[in-house]
Amino acid sequence: MDHSLTNHPILVTGGAGFIGCNFIRCLFAHCPAVSVINLDALTYAGSLNNVKDLELQDRYRFLHGDIGDAALVKQTLAEHDVRTIVNFAAESHVDRSITGPAAFIQTNIIGTFTLLDAARQAWAGKEDSCRFLHVSTDEVYGTLGPEDPAFAETTPYAPNSPYAASKAASDHLVRAYHHTYGLPTLTTNCSNNYGPYQYPEKLIPLMILNALTGKPLPVYGDGLQVRDWLYVEDHCAAIEAVLTRGRPGETYNVGGRTEKKNIEIVHLICEELDRLHPKSGGGSYREQITFVKDRPGHDRRYAINADKIQAELSWTPRESFETGIRKTIRWFLDHQDWVNSLMSEKYAEWITLNYAQR
Ligand code: NAD
Ligand code: TYD
Repeated sequence: MDHSLTNHPILVTGGAGFIGCNFIRCLFAHCPAVSVINLDALTYAGSLNNVKDLELQDRYRFLHGDIGDAALVKQTLAEHDVRTIVNFAAESHVDRSITGPAAFIQTNIIGTFTLLDAARQAWAGKEDSCRFLHVSTDEVYGTLGPEDPAFAETTPYAPNSPYAASKAASDHLVRAYHHTYGLPTLTTNCSNNYGPYQYPEKLIPLMILNALTGKPLPVYGDGLQVRDWLYVEDHCAAIEAVLTRGRPGETYNVGGRTEKKNIEIVHLICEELDRLHPKSGGGSYREQITFVKDRPGHDRRYAINADKIQAELSWTPRESFETGIRKTIRWFLDHQDWVNSLMSEKYAEWITLNYAQR
């Protein structure tokens, strides 16, 4: 039987971030009777501007707090009789994990542990009516050579960055809580997402915004690294499918079967912008492309084999990369207020820290 999302409020963690805010929006659009508590610490990556429209709905509640705060998590689960948790909360940027790994250990490992343990205690004896979905990444599998088969659920973990290692550790804890305590967990390992509300430290939004503001488009190394891109709403649909119909204890790989080299992505963005928003002085945005020093330990290629989720849950992506990137660029062009709200001193500090030495 499908897991019911309507009998009790769903605890979404990290719902003020990129994927979390899209997930709540998608869920509300599909399920009129669902209610959500969004627990988010509002780090640099989380913003109330991402959830402004949700605030207008009675079935949405925002809770400012840390997933590592055991007392707060315990009280929230008990007070609202929460039986579904979707854990997005994380430090999520590889480059930041290189310059400052401590926060990744704290939130991604200790924070996930805290949530799992609170759920174990709160759900004792009623596990059958509960679900804990942990949102993870394909980066736990490490890197692929050009001819290697795509990552399957059975691929051994081999994380290479502090970010990937912290997510791998959290995935192992999730697995152990199922195996040892019978906690009804599900894990999704997804490829690179893009779309509305993505913080402009990641490749696609950074390139769009740098292009529009006349800044260099910093391509790491030779730009031939490959990522498997998925439009964020397709990821949200996959999470919903796993949450309601997935088998507890299982992991599901999610990906767009859209392998692209970074340099191809940057060229595509420039082409689309040249068409949609031509440069005022003429010329192409391509002229801003700059090759810069590579990321240390840079994974060469990621690719996801999504056969399991497709066969078991009939999930497939709806957007092609071409339609998804067009929607995304249009969204960034149409949401200048949102962009401006992020352009803080802290953002400028990050850009200096990450790019000045390259
Ligand atoms: P994001 O960085 O945009 O958002 C993270 C959110 O978590 C923010 O709102 C932040 O305030 C919140 N948060 C951070 N630490 C917290 C804490 N201790 N307690 C409560 N809230 C906290 O990240 P995202 O891109 O939306 O990614 C969401 C999840 O999906 C992450 O777990 C990430 O590992 C995973 N994922 C991301 C991608 C991707 O391409 N972005 C791909 C696969 C998996
Ligand atoms: P990113 O969006 O940070 O995601 P991830 O590291 O999780 O895959 O980066 C995507 C790819 O783009 C990755 O190969 C690094 C590269 N990249 C650049 O070339 N320049 C940049 O300024 C950034 C942020 C990323």
